[in-house]
Amino acid sequence: MRTKFKQWAVDYLNESRNIFKLEDIDSIKAFLNEKACFLEIGPGKGKFILGMAEKFPNYNFLVVEISPTIAGICLKKIDENKEINNVKMVADDFFKLSSLLDKDTFDGIFLNFSDPWPKKRHEKRRLTSKLFLESYKNILKPDGKIYFKTDNDDFFTYSRESFIENGFKIIYENLDYQVDASVDEETEFEEKFKSQNIKIKKLILTK
Ligand SMILES: C[S@@+](CC[C@H](N)C(=O)[O-])C[C@H]1O[C@@H](n2cnc3c(N)ncnc32)[C@H](O)[C@@H]1O
Repeated sequence: MRTKFKQWAVDYLNESRNIFKLEDIDSIKAFLNEKACFLEIGPGKGKFILGMAEKFPNYNFLVVEISPTIAGICLKKIDENKEINNVKMVADDFFKLSSLLDKDTFDGIFLNFSDPWPKKRHEKRRLTSKLFLESYKNILKPDGKIYFKTDNDDFFTYSRESFIENGFKIIYENLDYQVDASVDEETEFEEKFKSQNIKIKKLILTK
């Protein structure tokens, strides 16, 4: 996701009531232990997670976003929804967060329209490459699930193979997915790709 640097958004990270610093790992763990909890990596501007948080008030949602500008934009949107109190953000790299978390933490991890990083030399940045999947295995509860959606055919094929090679089991697969609003929410990218008649590919996996 390419977004121009925005100073206000970066400054906003110091003002938000819904941000956790990694130094405050005890508060992060307390939030995650309160209720069933879900992680979204790369939330974009927050449409998906806000919709899910509203739909499922009995779950807690943590988002982790590495780009300070995108994190600030997303947090502002979260904060503006004053009735929502079950979404928190860590504005940092997923790997830094995951290294501090306990095993078997999450009921689910959402990977929505992650950057495909098509060049082979960037494979390690793909959120479905080996090291990421090993980390998901560690922080997912035994019956936890990965929810993966993408518009990109090559990235879908790569990710599907990578999940299988790394021991995940596909429990749901749909190559022309239409949002099921009872359990899911459309993301900003999903809305855009659907308007261009690009088919959305979805997998749900267990470890
Ligand atoms: C394509 S955008 C997400 C789009 C959004 N989920 C949607 O569907 O509209 C991918 C996001 O993942 C973030 N990201 C990529 N690698 C990350 C990492 N290691 N840790 C945290 N965020 C990451 C990027 O900064 C970017 O904002």
